[in-house]
Amino acid sequence: MTIKKVRKAILPVAGLGTRFLPATKTVPKEMLTVVDKPVIQYVVDEAVEAGIEHFVFVTGRNKAVIEDYFDIQFELEQLLRDRGKRTELSLLSDLRPMAGTTSFTRQQEPLGLGHAVWCARDIVGNEPFALLLPDMVMKHETPCLKGMVDLYDHAGGNVISVEECDPELTYKYGIVGIGEPVGEGFRITEMVEKPPRGEAPSNLFINGRYILQPEIFEILERQEPGAGNEIQLTDAMLKLANEQDFAAYHFKGETYDCGAKDGFILANVAFALQRDDIRPSVAEKFKALAAKL
Ligand code: UTP
Repeated sequence: MTIKKVRKAILPVAGLGTRFLPATKTVPKEMLTVVDKPVIQYVVDEAVEAGIEHFVFVTGRNKAVIEDYFDIQFELEQLLRDRGKRTELSLLSDLRPMAGTTSFTRQQEPLGLGHAVWCARDIVGNEPFALLLPDMVMKHETPCLKGMVDLYDHAGGNVISVEECDPELTYKYGIVGIGEPVGEGFRITEMVEKPPRGEAPSNLFINGRYILQPEIFEILERQEPGAGNEIQLTDAMLKLANEQDFAAYHFKGETYDCGAKDGFILANVAFALQRDDIRPSVAEKFKALAAKL
């Protein structure tokens, strides 16, 4: 069996972000900042560390600022150069993807995650790809997608990242059934979207990172709308699982759902406490705030 390398990643950023209104009325939630970087930058950094070579952004209306963010800001950079602000200048250039490594396509209507993925089909072509939900920001020594790529290079097929949740809360998530071990994970025996309370096959939920084979596009092409009248990726993956292997990578780090207010605030605190420049003052003030609880 030849295992094709995962070179491309899809980053769907066309959602409405209704959980974060009113901020997301004009600012895409992917551009909200965790400490001093937009959420989308954390996810791109994770993909870079996993060896991804090309980033496919599926954008929508009011999201042009994301495309601009990954471009050169000529006037700003010239001004920084004129003023000798070298640190700031190199910060911008270090984070900028190399020319020709980004593609942007539009999902004209937010018809669901499955539909957003399908919109990238021509750019991805006939090869396996990574899919990263940009509002899920992860923190761990081994970046989540890197661990998944290592598992994929060994097992092939499709790989989904999962992590533990409170067993009382499984009804909120996509949950997987646990089969035989493979690498740092296991074969998936079943996938259930939002199982009724007490009926979940485990407490391991799908946390927003996928490596999928291109056959998913053909399935999505014919996929009818499901829950919420949206084209659901999980429905398509369930069909693909009838024909191809699915393995789970058990992510052991922390995930912050930055599409939700509490997750976003926690991400800011967690990442600030990791930064040498601001940790002392943040920690001190945070302790004082916590003492008032
Ligand atoms: P979410 O359901 O978390 O995003 O989708 P949302 O719809 O923007 O958020 P809420 O629930 O209204 O607050 C997960 C990811 O899939 C993208 C979103 O941008 C997000 O990154 N997405 C979702 C699309 O690109 N298109 C869609 O039609 C739906």
